[in-house]
Amino acid sequence: MRAFWRGWRTTNIRICVAGATGRMGSTLIREAVARGFKIVGAIAARDDPNIDKTLREAGVCDLNVKIVDPSRIPEAVKEADVYVSFTTPEAEVANLPLVADLGKRIVMGTTGFTSEQMRKIVEAVSSKVPAVFSPNYAIGVNILFKLLRMMKAFPEGYDFSIVEIHHSGKKDAPSGTAKKMGEIISEIRGYSSISYGREGISPRKPGELEVLAVRAGGVPGIHEVIIAGSHEIIRIEHTAFSRSVFAQGALYAVNWIYKQEKPGIYTMDDVLGGV
Ligand SMILES: NC(=O)c1ccc[n+]([C@@H]2O[C@H](COP(=O)([O-])OP(=O)(O)OC[C@H]3O[C@@H](n4cnc5c(N)ncnc54)[C@H](OP(=O)(O)O)[C@@H]3O)[C@@H](O)[C@H]2O)c1
Repeated sequence: MRAFWRGWRTTNIRICVAGATGRMGSTLIREAVARGFKIVGAIAARDDPNIDKTLREAGVCDLNVKIVDPSRIPEAVKEADVYVSFTTPEAEVANLPLVADLGKRIVMGTTGFTSEQMRKIVEAVSSKVPAVFSPNYAIGVNILFKLLRMMKAFPEGYDFSIVEIHHSGKKDAPSGTAKKMGEIISEIRGYSSISYGREGISPRKPGELEVLAVRAGGVPGIHEVIIAGSHEIIRIEHTAFSRSVFAQGALYAVNWIYKQEKPGIYTMDDVLGGV
């Protein structure tokens, strides 16, 4: 893995990117080009003003690949080895079953699904193609997930809280990453409810996990886990300097899923293996 971060390049894995003009999709395309991936398809929302323009004309990167709307997915993924998607939950519910039916491997990073939306996607994809789903492709965050499992060792009486900060344009709250952290902590600590913020007289109840979301400026993503006892506090923070960290992790997942034969939904835990 170390070599990947030192500028490893692939040998022409062909990808189709959905959400190509979005914050993540456009960052991923630029990172992919720099690492030797071949962009063979680009998909954006039907009402996106860049539909039918090339990635060059849309100012994404210096390629003549045409940006098409989701009705042209079969054409856009035809030459692709992997479909990479950072869009919206509604778009994923509509598009992923089609992509899976076309037999294309998937790397998906969208967050904010309801459990019903996720159930539909898993049902449509899991028996057809290998796919990686992750709410956060940053390697550091995924190692932090592993670290959190070690926190089981804290005695009773230590409180866990999660604080996440993201740019003001982020749609879902709390972030998919904070939710995943909450799941791990609830599992290891036996929390049975979550407080998403306090107002007025509101002391912490027994069995209550605290998850707070802040939306401000252009922050790509900060997640802090606070563990406090009566006389000490530990604060573990992950800060993404830019969206490139998510794009690089997603491309690492692309490189991994490209080699998988067995259909199923994999996580970054699977991708990172023994790390
Ligand atoms: N897993 C990770 O590591 C990670 C990291 C960062 C962000 N994310 C998640 O990734 C998602 C995208 O984030 P972002 O910041 O890039 O948001 P964004 O800038 O809003 O990009 C999403 C793009 O998807 C487009 N879109 C909507 N419907 C579509 C469809 N049917 N087909 C193709 N494209 C469609 C949107 O178009 P319109 O604007 O026209 O609707 C927009 O351009 C969010 O869920 C976010 O939480 C995940």
